[in-house]
Amino acid sequence: MLLTVNDLRVTYRVPGHKPVEAVKGVSFQLDAGQALGIVGESGCGKSSLAKAIIGLLAPASGEVLLDGHPQTGRHPRDIQMVFQDAAGSLNPRMTVRQTLEEVLRVHRMTSPGETEARIGELLDLVGLPGKVLGAYPREISGGQCQRVSFARCLALKPRILLADEPVSALDVSVQARILNLMRTLQRELNLGVLLISHDLAVVRTICDRVCVMHGGEFVETGKTDNVLETPEHPYTRTLLAAVPDVGRAFSGIRV
Ligand SMILES: Nc1ncnc2c1ncn2[C@@H]1O[C@H](COP(=O)(O)OP(=O)(O)O)[C@@H](O)[C@H]1O
Ligand SMILES: [Mg+2]
Repeated sequence: MLLTVNDLRVTYRVPGHKPVEAVKGVSFQLDAGQALGIVGESGCGKSSLAKAIIGLLAPASGEVLLDGHPQTGRHPRDIQMVFQDAAGSLNPRMTVRQTLEEVLRVHRMTSPGETEARIGELLDLVGLPGKVLGAYPREISGGQCQRVSFARCLALKPRILLADEPVSALDVSVQARILNLMRTLQRELNLGVLLISHDLAVVRTICDRVCVMHGGEFVETGKTDNVLETPEHPYTRTLLAAVPDVGRAFSGIRV
């Protein structure tokens, strides 16, 4: 199994406050070439889970295994993460070319003679034209910034792409294109994709399976179609009702 998450818990301790248990024992598995969705409303612990998986946060307990081996807090190159605020996650003082050159250089992914060709490959992978190379983040669109974020991740040849609300800040038409890109990358590069969103409609476009998260726990997990057609947990029905088109398609469902 590519990624195994076992009983992961994240607790925030703020002096003078009660500890916040943001993730309360979450377990799941992800294989290469699969797309798994994690869906739940704001504040349910999705980003905390993502940060613990990638090693940005130390979990209170539980384990994250890659190919069955424990990850020891290090930020593993095999898992790369894209964020909601694509423009904000890029260095505003660096052109697209500099951003990609830097990641290739710092991680020694290419020798100097290969860098230019690899940058060209990365642009092709994410569907960006060569003319964006000289642009700064503020000079390109939000969707293009998100494509640059994907290219920067792919530069490291990850096996898992973890996307935390990757389209929430984008126009609906751009959302569809970015989700299509994710599906293409999943298939062509056989990536494991973890797509986190508050929006069930986003998750269902590319995810084979979905985990519904509520109050720090997974309350329902299954094939996306099954979960949509026969939701078992009351919270899943509430989520479905909040998605207009899904709600229409499953109008027999009453919360
Ligand atoms: N740095 C932090 N310190 C204290 N509490 C936090 C911190 N980050 C998140 N939380 C709390 O943890 C819970 C889960 O937050 P988060 O993982 O960001 O949820 P989501 O991504 O689903 O919106 C929320 O109650 C939030 O207020
Ligand atoms: Mg979040």
